[in-house]
Amino acid sequence: MKNPRSLIRPLVHELHAYVPGEQPKIKGLIKLNTNENPYPPSPRVMKAVKGAVDGRLRLYPNPIAQLLREKLAKLHRCKPENIIIGNGSDELLALAVRAFVEPLVGQASCLSPSKEKKKLETGKMPVLRNSKATVQYFHPSYSLYPVLADIHGAAKNAVPLNANFAVPSVPELKRAGLWDFNAALTFVTTPNAPSGRGYSTAELEKLCRATKGVVVLDEAYVDFARENAMKLASKYPHVIVSRTFSKAYSLCFQRVGYFVAHPELIAALDKIRDSYNVNGLGQITATATLDDLPYYRTNFRKVIATREELSRSLTKLGFRVLPSQTNFILAKPPLFAAKDWLQKLREKKILVRWFSQPEVKDFLRITIGTPAEAEALVRAAKAIAR
Ligand SMILES: Cc1ncc(COP(=O)(O)O)c(C=O)c1O
Repeated sequence: MKNPRSLIRPLVHELHAYVPGEQPKIKGLIKLNTNENPYPPSPRVMKAVKGAVDGRLRLYPNPIAQLLREKLAKLHRCKPENIIIGNGSDELLALAVRAFVEPLVGQASCLSPSKEKKKLETGKMPVLRNSKATVQYFHPSYSLYPVLADIHGAAKNAVPLNANFAVPSVPELKRAGLWDFNAALTFVTTPNAPSGRGYSTAELEKLCRATKGVVVLDEAYVDFARENAMKLASKYPHVIVSRTFSKAYSLCFQRVGYFVAHPELIAALDKIRDSYNVNGLGQITATATLDDLPYYRTNFRKVIATREELSRSLTKLGFRVLPSQTNFILAKPPLFAAKDWLQKLREKKILVRWFSQPEVKDFLRITIGTPAEAEALVRAAKAIAR
């Protein structure tokens, strides 16, 4: 019998998979770790989903999510051909890597004669770093991007953000020489996660103009920000804006996200997706969401008000809270290490997120919950700091 391990591709063996936030089912736990929205979907959405749970479940859903794309096209003043829907925006980010980036493997045939000779002499594959095979992103940002590059066997170019998680200007990027202006695919999390920092459309536009490959502006949290960069998707044929119903629209459970871009890019992504990638209830709930936008806009305002209040309260307790344009804050706690705070808060039934990367290891990422949840967090923090 063959060892099953030997049947798995080495690339998969070596892969460090994406680690999602914990979803524990502990009673009474205040869950502020995965940036979910504390408010339920609109009553219209609940009614639509209940009304759809019938004999239709035996049928395949609309393969191109037509109604949802039409409604989104109206909202964003574009055409349905400018939009692709995904099983969460995560699916679309993965499709973008597959559609626009060459994997490094299989490039042996493209080696120059000298490299080919070296390969034969040493028996080793020279490290090939080329723009066509490069997935580029700022660091820190959404930790899924490097995983997607690894799964695809692409090269990664992680370029550090400036102090306080600012995006370097184009002249700064040119001077530092780390940014690949021809990278096949660049992801920009805007506003940034995990810092919450927002970026102006003007600075993003300069970056997009200077970068020649496909640029995905990942606007997962943009409804909580001052500006969005949707106009860049219609202005530049290489710019994609990524959105999700998960965060601002209280629909994580349904897994619906979308890209807005030039029809040529959308058609390429469309070619390689699964035929029925967006489940029927997901399509129905997302469509009903768009029928009740005022409900959600009220929720954005509530989340933003709680964010500002919580930031003030934690600052008074000695936390260093970074300004946020998202539904979470990044805060450096006083007295103990952030990792210890994670544990101490958990003992008080409050779950937040901690990341081990050096740039953020001194911080906690705290999702904005209801005002009552924020008050409970402040009470717990006071007790811990006492
Ligand atoms: C920056 C960013 N982009 C995309 C996503 C994925 O969202 P979705 O639920 O649409 O897959 C997340 C989720 O945490 C995120 O933080």
